[in-house]
Amino acid sequence: MINVAVLGYGTVGSGVVEVIEKNKAEINKKSGEELNVKYILDLRDFPGDPYESKVVHDVNVILDDPEVAIICETMGGIRPAYDFSKQALLKGKSVCTSNKELVANHGPELLRLARENKCNYLFEASVGGGIPIIRPINYSLTAEKIDAVTGILNGTTNYILSKMAAEGVDFEEVLKEAQEKGYAERNPEADVEGYDACRKIAILSSLMTGKNVKYEDIYTEGITKITAADFVYAKALGRSIKLLAMSREAEDGSFYAMVAPFMIPVSHPLHGVNGVFNAVFVHGNMLGDSMYYGRGAGKLPTASAVVSDVVDCARHIGKTIMCFWDDEDVKQTPVDDIRHRFFVRTKAEAERKAVDIFGMMRVVVADVKGEYAFITEEMSEKEFAEKAEQLGCVLNRIRLEG
Ligand code: HSE
Repeated sequence: MINVAVLGYGTVGSGVVEVIEKNKAEINKKSGEELNVKYILDLRDFPGDPYESKVVHDVNVILDDPEVAIICETMGGIRPAYDFSKQALLKGKSVCTSNKELVANHGPELLRLARENKCNYLFEASVGGGIPIIRPINYSLTAEKIDAVTGILNGTTNYILSKMAAEGVDFEEVLKEAQEKGYAERNPEADVEGYDACRKIAILSSLMTGKNVKYEDIYTEGITKITAADFVYAKALGRSIKLLAMSREAEDGSFYAMVAPFMIPVSHPLHGVNGVFNAVFVHGNMLGDSMYYGRGAGKLPTASAVVSDVVDCARHIGKTIMCFWDDEDVKQTPVDDIRHRFFVRTKAEAERKAVDIFGMMRVVVADVKGEYAFITEEMSEKEFAEKAEQLGCVLNRIRLEG
């Protein structure tokens, strides 16, 4: 029997217990041993809950119990999750987490501790919820040089943008409705400003490069400035607007990651990813394109990913599964030097000035009054910002991908 403890009996933590119980036969067979949830750590009591008797309030009960081999950290946030994870790994207990913030901030250190103590720090659920993406990058695509990862990594913003596209309504209105339905947090900043997607692409980029991609260095722009009018133009162009989290490594070793809204064509594999769904599009130099799609959030999908890590830990007691994510920070190309084409909206009277400043451009005709819209040639962010400042009346601009 392998004993497991769950830290945090919230949405994901209770999902972990539910998955282990419901799929007991499958999970035990695949683990090669019976898994037993011995403790649940939470500050609260849960009278009437079937697992009430397993609830403890002191983490040391778990850390000091030599029978506990695997810990599911589903608390979220940095502290105390960081301290608890560290202490567990130092005692040779494997940790499986859904905590992207902790993984993005302390991944290399916690992985090193796992190696030094012959256990594992696994984080499949930290990116893309229930979608297997960490394991494919770590185990399956090991013959590849992965040079591009492009993801829709946030369900809240994808739900909002999909609704805006379908119904022609503005951001604020859809956000309100999403909050009412529970698809968006009451404080939606981490999602709508792109911070959540930023942590997730930092994790994927670190696995892609094998070094540490600091999320603080990733240019991040959210969706709060996207309007219903932008979607009118996107439709006229046969495109949609998606919050993409991307990273690219060129042959010369230069690397950048970015989170921002992009206009993507119907032919782009991420175009059809709508609602709360997530998807990650990976390019390898031998395989070419592959894509991973599914539920990026939610109790059971996320818990299923945590439990898949528990099974992996159970199969590797006393052994560390290789994961290449070194301490060394990746040098990221400054955002000024990143190149894209840009869709630009300006006032109708600025047409002449826009043509003078931007030169070659494609005019975009759509049913929006009093505006002049165009697509630039590919240029650097710096060049674009300088030209936009010269023009002076840019109503909005959205990068193009594909
Ligand atoms: N807030 C996140 C999302 C949850 O909307 O995708 C999963 O990390």
